[in-house]
Amino acid sequence: MKTPINGINIAYTDSGQGHPLVFIHAFPLSHEMWKPQVAVFEQQYRVITLDLRGHGESDTQLWNFTLEDYAKDVYELLCHLDIHHATFIGLSMGGYTLLAFYRQFPAMVSALVLADTRAQADNEEGKAGRLAMAQTAHTQGPTAIADLMIPKLLSATTTENRKDLVEEVRTMILKNQSAGIIVDLMAMAARPDSTSLLSKISCPTLVIVGENDVATPPSESHYMAERIPQGQLVTISHAGHISNYEQPETFNQALKTFLSGNIQGKGFKKSENDGMRFRNEKE
Ligand code: MLT
Repeated sequence: MKTPINGINIAYTDSGQGHPLVFIHAFPLSHEMWKPQVAVFEQQYRVITLDLRGHGESDTQLWNFTLEDYAKDVYELLCHLDIHHATFIGLSMGGYTLLAFYRQFPAMVSALVLADTRAQADNEEGKAGRLAMAQTAHTQGPTAIADLMIPKLLSATTTENRKDLVEEVRTMILKNQSAGIIVDLMAMAARPDSTSLLSKISCPTLVIVGENDVATPPSESHYMAERIPQGQLVTISHAGHISNYEQPETFNQALKTFLSGNIQGKGFKKSENDGMRFRNEKE
């Protein structure tokens, strides 16, 4: 489905019934990265996914948009869907977008899941890397970006042994236009530091990280979970950056446990599931 939002068409999915879960995808992917979650959670929740501006089936505009603008698109989409409160799940750039969303619309956030992301702004080296990648997108297109990003998105073991996943991720990246990729890179380079926001996040928050995430390493997730008052941390074994896609069963189990404890009011429980380490930083 598509709807006009802030002057462009935004593509989204809306399935299931119950408390809304809103999933925000990573760079340079699309709502399709959440397929392993949608299939499971739409049985119990209302599940919303969207293609951020410049991604997948949403329109692209070449301009200096910010992640605050991306967050406003999410807000407008939720207004269109008559959703006033939701649990938000964002991975990597999706997490940066959620921090921008929380800064602007905290009253809409019942709970947060920050997966494989970080609170810090880019340093000068990071910004220079964004500029170089934007130039590569401009001169060589999404194929070159896929070659650069796949080793950062998936763990070495998955890249070696799961050619099916590698091809699915490549296909997702190739559906994006160079302009959308460039706008993302500018928006990420310009994002503000969110470390001072962490102590002000007043909702239950699950921080998830793949143990082999090289793009936003586990130390970044420890940092966030320690500073968010109701922060809980889950480390997912045998996963790199897109932990929800590489280890969907473990990711889904972590999310289910978090939701049943915090949205259905049963109290947070430690899981004994293999491949997942829960740690409540405040214990
Ligand atoms: C992402 O997965 O969204 C990106 O790797 C984030 C980043 O480059 O900082």
